[in-house]
Amino acid sequence: MAFVLAVTGSAVGLGNIWKFPYVTGQYGGAAFVLVYLACIVLIGLPVMMSEILMGRRGRRNPVATMALLGAEEGKSMNWSWLGAMGVIAGVLILSYYSVYGGYSVAYVVKILSGVFSDARAADVIAVRDSFEGSWVLVGLFHTIFMGVSIFVVARGVEGGLERAVRFMVPGLLLLLIILLGYSMNTGYFGAGMAFMFTPDFSKLTWEAVLAAMGQAFFTLSIGMGAVMAYGAYLPEETSITTSAAAVAIADTTIAITAGLVIFPLVFANGLNIDAGPSLVFITLPLAFGQMTGGTVFGTLFFVLLSFAAWTSAISLLEPAVAWVVEKYNRSRAEAAVLIGVAIWAIGLGTVLSFNVLKDVRFLRGTLYDNLDFLTINVMLPLSGLFIAIFAGWVMCRNSTAEELGGAGTSYRLWRVLVRYAAPIGILFVFLKAVGLLELS
Ligand code: TRP
Repeated sequence: MAFVLAVTGSAVGLGNIWKFPYVTGQYGGAAFVLVYLACIVLIGLPVMMSEILMGRRGRRNPVATMALLGAEEGKSMNWSWLGAMGVIAGVLILSYYSVYGGYSVAYVVKILSGVFSDARAADVIAVRDSFEGSWVLVGLFHTIFMGVSIFVVARGVEGGLERAVRFMVPGLLLLLIILLGYSMNTGYFGAGMAFMFTPDFSKLTWEAVLAAMGQAFFTLSIGMGAVMAYGAYLPEETSITTSAAAVAIADTTIAITAGLVIFPLVFANGLNIDAGPSLVFITLPLAFGQMTGGTVFGTLFFVLLSFAAWTSAISLLEPAVAWVVEKYNRSRAEAAVLIGVAIWAIGLGTVLSFNVLKDVRFLRGTLYDNLDFLTINVMLPLSGLFIAIFAGWVMCRNSTAEELGGAGTSYRLWRVLVRYAAPIGILFVFLKAVGLLELS
């Protein structure tokens, strides 16, 4: 149970409530959602199971685990680069994740201040603009968010993390259901449903498919060693299959519910469906401003969202800290501060990309846009690919069957997915999206 709670805490976060609705909006809705769901089941789940079983077998930080398992299977220790790539991905993701975690904390303050009472769309957008335009404010909340994350990881996490997840996930779901009630009364719930579930595959691009796959990795916290690091503490007798499925179900439920809340609000208020990263910070304050008890519900919601972001941030920080502790023999506290401050500094680049450096664009857009694309659409799928190859092809059948509890039907299904579906699917989508594969 402790393991499932910790991994759920890692999985449920800004990815579900902030990222999922805004990328779904950007990529046109239902077709994207269906590809996303398929990626969760066919690629995400098997890769998640692989990460957990590798973590439990290695029982070390991801870099050392990969070296150990490589050696154990009579292959090369060089597989440790895969662990290292994960550590780097975690550092880069957390650098901007912390900025949006900061938004979430800032919105607790804003809701309490009453600026959103009876606000109209233009007012809420103005609040967002004035916050985002100030690098001092965005930077301040990024600093607060990162400071708390460092503090928690420095002190060691277990007990508090479990307790937090136990009330946070049900609480978040409850508030989403209250919001769902509000969305249903806007008169635009049908439009929101249609947007999410009536697909038009003719408009689906390969880039959208890659983004859906990347989102599946991001939301499940896989492809980076976070789940591997938690797997290191998993008792032998716990079922990996059941745990992974439970986490995936909880995570998907929260994301889909968030979408069902947000899209009707977009249509009801005539907002832009592809408003981008601040979509949730426009739609939800509008709803809270208009509903009865909105200040209380709104405050609670953003408090819970901040907690959800923290339990995810911890899992992004943990592998890098564990690696410094084991490799350089530092204390936990020292390692957490060292790595945390470095991540905070990288994050300043994202802070500035909303204001001072807004017009500095290259490749995919601002610095944030590039970091986002590099980590979610490139690094996570590619390390997911190699994790699948490792678990499916490098590790022998006996090793994986032992971890997954025998060679029954579910084991055979896992093995087919991890040997064929995942590697071929990831590689194909990736090459298609970056334009390296031209099949007519
Ligand atoms: N899954 C988290 C979310 O949805 C983010 C996250 C935490 C993550 N740890 C991760 C993403 C590791 C990728 C890898 O908010």
